[in-house]
Parts: sequence; structure tokens; C-alpha cells
Amino acid sequence: MHDYASRLLAASEKEFAGYQGSATAASSAADLSTGEIRIERPDWLESAIVSGAQRAPLGYVDPQGLVGLRKQYASFLSNAGYHFDEGNVLVTYGAKEALWVALIANTDEGHAVLLPRPGWTQYYLWAQALGARAHFYDPRIGNLVAEIAALFDQARPSVLILNSPNNPTGAEISERDFASIVELAAHYQVSILSDEVYRYYALQRPAGSVLGPLQAGTSRLLYVDSLSKMLGLAGLRIGFLLADRGMVKKLEVVRSSFGSCVSAVAQTIAQELLSHDQCLSWIDQIDRVCRQRLSTVGERLRSHGYEVESAGALYLWVRDPLAAHGQCTGQIVLGGTPARVAPGHLFGRPGYFRLCPIRDRHVLASVFPEQQSHEKEKV
Ligand SMILES: Cc1ncc(COP(=O)(O)O)c(C=O)c1O
Repeated sequence: MHDYASRLLAASEKEFAGYQGSATAASSAADLSTGEIRIERPDWLESAIVSGAQRAPLGYVDPQGLVGLRKQYASFLSNAGYHFDEGNVLVTYGAKEALWVALIANTDEGHAVLLPRPGWTQYYLWAQALGARAHFYDPRIGNLVAEIAALFDQARPSVLILNSPNNPTGAEISERDFASIVELAAHYQVSILSDEVYRYYALQRPAGSVLGPLQAGTSRLLYVDSLSKMLGLAGLRIGFLLADRGMVKKLEVVRSSFGSCVSAVAQTIAQELLSHDQCLSWIDQIDRVCRQRLSTVGERLRSHGYEVESAGALYLWVRDPLAAHGQCTGQIVLGGTPARVAPGHLFGRPGYFRLCPIRDRHVLASVFPEQQSHEKEKV
């Protein structure tokens, strides 16, 4: 067995046991552990999915992604003020594949990689499996730029992963800090993998991003986005990687070596959705729901004595009261249906848990029975 596979399997059995478990598995508890948007979808979206599926090509398609979809995504970004063309876009099987392909193409065994901690489980899992040396920065730290500069100097990494807003804490990197970090990375010849799947739900406006420097032609920058979070459609498995044309071509070869093309049906649906005149208002609606849910569920948790340390992206990051007794919380019971949460060790921080409250109201009402009478939202 190749080292990558054996290290991955070993980590999945030890510190990350249970991480890949299915959200719908076994228990009757409500699932607030999965980082997913599960709210009622508008009718137009369901119709656009059907009509996209009906006109999809059913043979192999361009391994870089359907040109129509790549153009549509570039035009979506140009509405936000960033100008790229279809040659800068690689369509992937979700953000996860984009990040993995970018990481394996930019990291060798023994190289150092700089990761956020608390951070998304997968980054650390990959670093371990690839035999890379993982170094960590805290995305919540006051002087992030100085922290990253010191780590560049000490660890000499080949890759820095940024994730703003951060999963699980919601911490955000400002536009100014992004610009300084990009400058430092150019100096130290570090590639930046910027995982911005939650940027649509950032509190800072405009959300910090590598898109500006990438558009200006800075090299070694890779930007990752996904319809899983942007449109709340994780099952569609459509992600985007944006980089200079040379990097995109290189990564296309890597991903098509094992994945041929991304599903042409999913890509045609994605194009239909991104070109729909209600697409932006759906993103705004998800954003409003996220803010409302984070705020009301955060209040509920506080009223039950939990210490909510932060809220952002799709998450509440909560101190784990069981940590004082050497245990960890995997489920909370507040008088209604028990609810599963994600324990902090999966994000490199035992002593916390992460909860995703972006769920239909009836699910939240069953977990937080008092919730109904307090909710005055219109969703
Ligand atoms: C930070 C982060 N990046 C990437 C992903 C993967 O997204 P996708 O469903 O597009 O693969 C997730 C999923 O939860 C995530 O939290």
C-alpha cells in the first residue's frame, strides 16, 4: 500500500475516528454536526435543476470543465468586481477535490505546510497522509500577519492554507491582511491555497480575498470556491479552482488522471443555476438565514449556560463543559430532541465543540423547545 493510503487510514482510525461518518447514520438525534446548509429551497431552484439535467450532454466533456460553466462562473465573479476568463477556471468535484489537487501538486514529502488551527479537519489529514510537516497558526490571533511572517521564517513552508471565514470559528482575514500575507508569501516563495468557500457569509464587507492579487497577476495563488456553500447544494459536487492559466492546465492533468471529467449533468445544472436571475438573491437569503440562526441558537445555548466563543461562517464555536472532566461532548440535550455536534479535537482544539445551526426551523424547534415562541424571523 502506498504511504499516502496507509497514513490516511491510520489517522482515520485514531485521532480522526468518526470524522467521515454519515450525517444520516444510525441515531435519532438531530444532526447539527455536519457543516451544511439545510433549509427549504425555492421552487425556481428545483426547476432550474430539472431543466439543467434535461439538456446536459451525456458523454465525456472537457476535463477542465464545460466552457459554458467556466464562462458563467467568470461572469459571476465579474459581477463582484473581479475579472477573470474561462482559462483561469478549473471545475472540480467540490472544493475538496480542488484543494486536494492543489495541495498534492504543490507539496512534497517532508515539505512544511502552514495550516489554521482550529481548522478544517481535512487539511491536517492530508498533510499527515502526504508526509508533510504541519505547522499551525491560530486564525483568531490579533496580529495574524506577524504570526505568519514568523512561521514563514522558521518553517520555510511550501504552502500556506488560508480559510476565511474560518471553519470552525468564523474568524475572518481582512482585505488588508490578505494583501500583506500575499506580499510576504511572494517574498518567501510560498504558494497560497485560499479556501474561500464561506466568503458569501462573511461579516466583513467586502470579504477579504486573494481574488484582487490573483487578478493583478500575482503568481502562486490558488483560490477555491464551491456551490456546496454558495448555493447550499453540497450534493451537486461542483467546486471551482481559480489560478493562472499555467497552473490550471497543470492541475487539469492531475485531476483528469483519476477523475476524467466532472459530471456533465452536475456542470450543466450549475451553469443553469449561476445564470439564473434569482441566483444572487438566493445567496443573500442564505446569508440572512445564517445570521439569524447563528444569533438565535447562540442565545439559546447561552441561556443554557454554554459559553459560545464565536459565531461565523455557518458555525457556533462553543466551549465544551465536559472538558473539565476529561471528556468531550458529541451530543447536546436541551430538553428536546438530542442533537449531535462536532467535537473540537476534529479541528485540532479539544475543549470545544462546533455546532451548525443552518437547519429548517422545525429541526431547531425540536432541539430548542423554547425556540418557537422566540423566533420572529421571516425566512
Ligand atoms: C473549509 C472547507 N473547505 C472545503 C469544504 C468542502 O466543500 P465541498 O463540499 O465543496 O467539497 C468544506 C466542507 O465542509 C469546508 O468546511
